[in-house]
Amino acid sequence: MRGGTTLAIIGCGQIGTAILEVLLASLSQPCPNHQHQTLPNLSMKVKPTRFIACVNTQESVSRLRKQFGHFARSSFPNVQISQGRVAEAVQQADFVLLACKTSQAVEILGDTSLAESLAGKLLLSTCADLTARQIEQLIYHDATIESTETKRCYIVQARANSSFSVRQSATLISTTVAMADTIPRDFEDLTTWIFSSIGTVTFVPESVMNEASITSSLAPALFTVALEGIAKEAMARGLREPDALHLAAQAMKGTAELVLSKKDENKGLFAIDEVRDKALATSEGSGDRGLAVLRQAMVKDTFAEAMRQGMEKRDPNNAYLYSNW
Ligand SMILES: NC(=O)c1ccc[n+]([C@@H]2O[C@H](COP(=O)([O-])OP(=O)(O)OC[C@H]3O[C@@H](n4cnc5c(N)ncnc54)[C@H](OP(=O)(O)O)[C@@H]3O)[C@@H](O)[C@H]2O)c1
Repeated sequence: MRGGTTLAIIGCGQIGTAILEVLLASLSQPCPNHQHQTLPNLSMKVKPTRFIACVNTQESVSRLRKQFGHFARSSFPNVQISQGRVAEAVQQADFVLLACKTSQAVEILGDTSLAESLAGKLLLSTCADLTARQIEQLIYHDATIESTETKRCYIVQARANSSFSVRQSATLISTTVAMADTIPRDFEDLTTWIFSSIGTVTFVPESVMNEASITSSLAPALFTVALEGIAKEAMARGLREPDALHLAAQAMKGTAELVLSKKDENKGLFAIDEVRDKALATSEGSGDRGLAVLRQAMVKDTFAEAMRQGMEKRDPNNAYLYSNW
């Protein structure tokens, strides 16, 4: 039996398109190819097979038509492209993914007809600067639960990081759901299914959501410093820049894969020492000399301090402080 629920993507820009592309590929090609990791199992009862991609401009409609237009005539999966008709899309949908910029979300959610159309539905948001509570206020204003007849929606906040474009986002999902003690199991599974399309999914409580999201969003920036430092000396010794950076980046990717695979082998426990010792053993002594320099310079503490500053310092516009190297 094929499922038949509808997912409306309100704001099918970079993230929305990346998610839609993989979901469609996994639905239309049950055997995944190397570009699309396997998505977790999901009950047919909730699996979306119809998608409504909402955008604002004609330019975006043309982009989506070029990429997904052939799914408009297909019954499984099916894609409809909608320009601006958000209220209609939300009404037709079983689930809603809000993936536009925060300012756009504020405007969209100001439509008072949405509260009724969203009743009892799952509303997933990728808006980085909006908490589930803020979204709830935008939809229901200050109305108390008792003062409204309408059943509210389940609002779940998801924070992807910049690696979503290569399907390697370390996406965080808040376990705190606005207007509910817990998220129904089917909704949780659907959330995991949707965000697994762009990487991994980690559920964390709302109380540490900011810290967790800064960890996943700041870490890539800090890693680039290590990459540049490693490549710099390789270039000074005669390697071409593309080769030096490729070697360093591939080594970083391999290290990350090893660390993650050890976690799976060790039932959830990471074994970073093991990965480091193995790398040192194959470096014929040079690794020990290199690591001694990092220890002396207290590089580990410096990274920790960089994270601390990143978690504490925000500029007046709420953006993280940033300076060029
Ligand atoms: N990009 C990232 O690296 C990243 C990482 C983590 C989190 N996020 C968060 O994810 C959200 C989406 O980011 P993004 O980079 O995917 O944004 P984006 O590429 O700018 O996409 C936003 C989309 O919303 C559409 N839109 C705007 N107003 C609309 C309206 N009234 N009705 C229907 N559609 C409307 C836009 O359509 P038009 O193009 O036609 O105007 C566009 O397709 C943001 O809140 C961001 O904070 C982004």
